[in-house]
Amino acid sequence: MSKLISGFSKLSKNEKIDWLANNFTLSPTETKNVLAQYVNNDEQLQQLHDDFIENTISNYYMPYGIAPNFIINDKNYTIPMAIEESSVVAAASLVAKFWSDKGGFTAEVIDTQKVGQVHFMYEGDFETLQDYFKVKKERLLQATDAITKNMRKRGGGILTVELRDKTEELANYYQIHVTFETKDSMGANFINSCLEAIAKEFKKEDIEIVMSILSNYVPQCVVKASVCCEVEKLHPTDGALFAKKMQQAVAIANVEPHRAVTHNKGVMNGIDAVVIATGNDFRAVEAGVHAYAAKTGNYKSLTSCSIENGMFTFSIEVPLALGTVGGLTSTHPLSKLSLEILDNPSAKELMQIIAVAGLAQNYAALRALTTTGIQEGHMKMHLVNILNQLEANQQEKEWVTQQLKGQVVSYSGVADALQKIRA
Ligand code: MEV
Repeated sequence: MSKLISGFSKLSKNEKIDWLANNFTLSPTETKNVLAQYVNNDEQLQQLHDDFIENTISNYYMPYGIAPNFIINDKNYTIPMAIEESSVVAAASLVAKFWSDKGGFTAEVIDTQKVGQVHFMYEGDFETLQDYFKVKKERLLQATDAITKNMRKRGGGILTVELRDKTEELANYYQIHVTFETKDSMGANFINSCLEAIAKEFKKEDIEIVMSILSNYVPQCVVKASVCCEVEKLHPTDGALFAKKMQQAVAIANVEPHRAVTHNKGVMNGIDAVVIATGNDFRAVEAGVHAYAAKTGNYKSLTSCSIENGMFTFSIEVPLALGTVGGLTSTHPLSKLSLEILDNPSAKELMQIIAVAGLAQNYAALRALTTTGIQEGHMKMHLVNILNQLEANQQEKEWVTQQLKGQVVSYSGVADALQKIRA
C-alpha cells in the first residue's frame, strides 16, 4: 500500500497524528500516548510551539541545565545549557569553578561583520560589467533603504558592496559580495531581504541571477577567549606535566584531523548547548565554526595552548554569528529566560559567553583525557542512564552504584546486578 499523501499540511493536527500512527508505527495507541505526553497543557504555549515549524504533532524537548561560577571579564555568570549529553554541564561547572579563583576567563570580540552574496552568471566582458556595477552601486544601496532604515538607526547596516570575479573557479560566475553589521540581531532575514533587493535592482537581460543568500561562513565575526595562570596552579602535584600534556593534546589536534574533529566536537558540546538555550541557530554556528577550523586548508583545533615563562595559557578563537534580539530569542520563553539569566547580554557579550563555554568544555575534555581518561566521569552518568532505562527505584540505584564502584559500566553488567537484587 502506498503511504504517499497529498494535502497533508491541510489536515488537522489529530488527523495528521492518526495518519502517522496508523501507517508508520506498530501501536497507534502507544504512539498517540507518547505524543500526547509531550504536549503542553497550556494551550497558548503549545500554539506558540506549533507555530515555530510546520506539521507540528508534539514537542521534542531536551534537558535544560545551568553551569554556575563562570567569571568572564570579571563578571559572574551562571550559564544555561540545553543538551542531552551527560557530563557536559558537570564539566562546565567544574572548570568554571576551577578558573574562578585564577582570574576567570577573558574574552574579546575581534569583529562582527557578516556576509551575504548575490550569485550571478554573465557571459559578457568583465570591464563592461565593472562599469555597469560602478554606475549602479549607489542605486543598489538605495534599493535597500527601507529595509536598512531601522538597522542604521541602531548603528548597523550595509558596510561594503563589492563586485567579485569568480570566473577562474567557475565559468561566467560573478558575485556581489556584501558585508553587514547587524548589531544585536543575528540578521539572517535582514541580510537576505537586502540581498534580494540588491539582486532585483542589479538584474538585466545579460545578468542571470542564480541566488541571493547570506553566508554562514563568518570569518570576520570572531571572538577570542582565554584563561591563564601559573603552571604550578594547574595541578595539585605536577602542574608542569599537566601543562605539557595539555599542550601536546592541542598539538596532536593541529596535525591530525581525526583527532581535531573529536577535539572540536567537545568544544561544540559547550557552544551548541548555550546557542540552543539562547534560541540561536546552532546549524549556522556549526557550519561556520567547522569551516573556520579548516580555513588553512587543513582541519585544525579551535583552541590553542601555550606555556611561556611559567605561565599556562589556553585560548579559543571562533566565529559566532548570534543574536540577542529577534527570532526565537524573543519568542521562546526559555530563550528569553536564558538571556535574562545571562543579564540580557548584547550579541557581542553573548559571543564572549559562548566562546568561554566552548573553551571550558575543551579544557575539561583534555584534562580528563590526559589524566584519568574520559570514561571515569562518563561512566557515572552512563550508569544513571542505564538504571533509569531499567526502571530501577532509588534503593536499587544506590545498591547497584555501590556494587559497581570502580568497574567499567555496561548495560548487561547493570542488568545482571539489578536482577540479583530483585531476585
Ligand atoms: C564527547 O562528547 C566529547 C569528547 O570526545 C571531546 C574530546 O575528545 O576532546 C570527550
